[in-house]
Amino acid sequence: MTGWQPQDHYFRRAKKEGFIARSVFKLEEVDRRVRLFKPGQRVLDLGCHPGSWLQYCARAVGKRGLVVGVDTRKISIELPPHVHFIQADVFEILPADLYQISEEFDVVLSDLAPSTTGVRSVDSSRSFTLFQRALSLADDLLVPGGHFLGKIFQGSGFDEMVKELKGRFGKVRGIKPRATRSQSKEIYLVAMDKKKENSRVTKN
Ligand SMILES: C[S@@+](CC[C@H](N)C(=O)[O-])C[C@H]1O[C@@H](n2cnc3c(N)ncnc32)[C@H](O)[C@@H]1O
Repeated sequence: MTGWQPQDHYFRRAKKEGFIARSVFKLEEVDRRVRLFKPGQRVLDLGCHPGSWLQYCARAVGKRGLVVGVDTRKISIELPPHVHFIQADVFEILPADLYQISEEFDVVLSDLAPSTTGVRSVDSSRSFTLFQRALSLADDLLVPGGHFLGKIFQGSGFDEMVKELKGRFGKVRGIKPRATRSQSKEIYLVAMDKKKENSRVTKN
């Protein structure tokens, strides 16, 4: 933890617009820049607590869409009926655990973040492991043509990960949204248009 944070512009804006956390503006910026969402889509949000991305996705996909959030921490905000929450550890959850809600997703998001220690190599390695886990779930659950967005600390293994994503998706780019705190080493990798040959989703 970095301790007390001033109530900045994004914090006040989130409150005013009815979002539970300022991090919604990171997703909003990525969406504005690359157009991640469409009405009717099914979205999986890994590491979703306290729920601002769930709130954003619920609006973006609308009532005909579906949003499923997973986190070890329980969500305390009220969510619309097309948003489901599963309290679980991403290392323990299996794709089959999600099947009763949806067998496949159009977008997989990961804002998963480890509890930070302040030791850069440790934090970066934990963040990398969470990113890899999210990508592995996306391998199983994302439809061909689907999109993956994941938070990662820039550290060892980063360049190799970008290369790996480029093999699996049509377009890959790194985005550091303006709402990211300036001292943070986090960046979001957006991988769009999952290639068919890399899809393990077999359901039609
Ligand atoms: C930065 S927060 C997500 C914020 C969220 N996107 C929002 O806008 O409200 C990161 C989340 O990752 C979750 N997390 C970290 N490791 C996890 C794991 N192994 N399984 C499930 N959730 C995890 C944490 O509990 C935390 O709530």
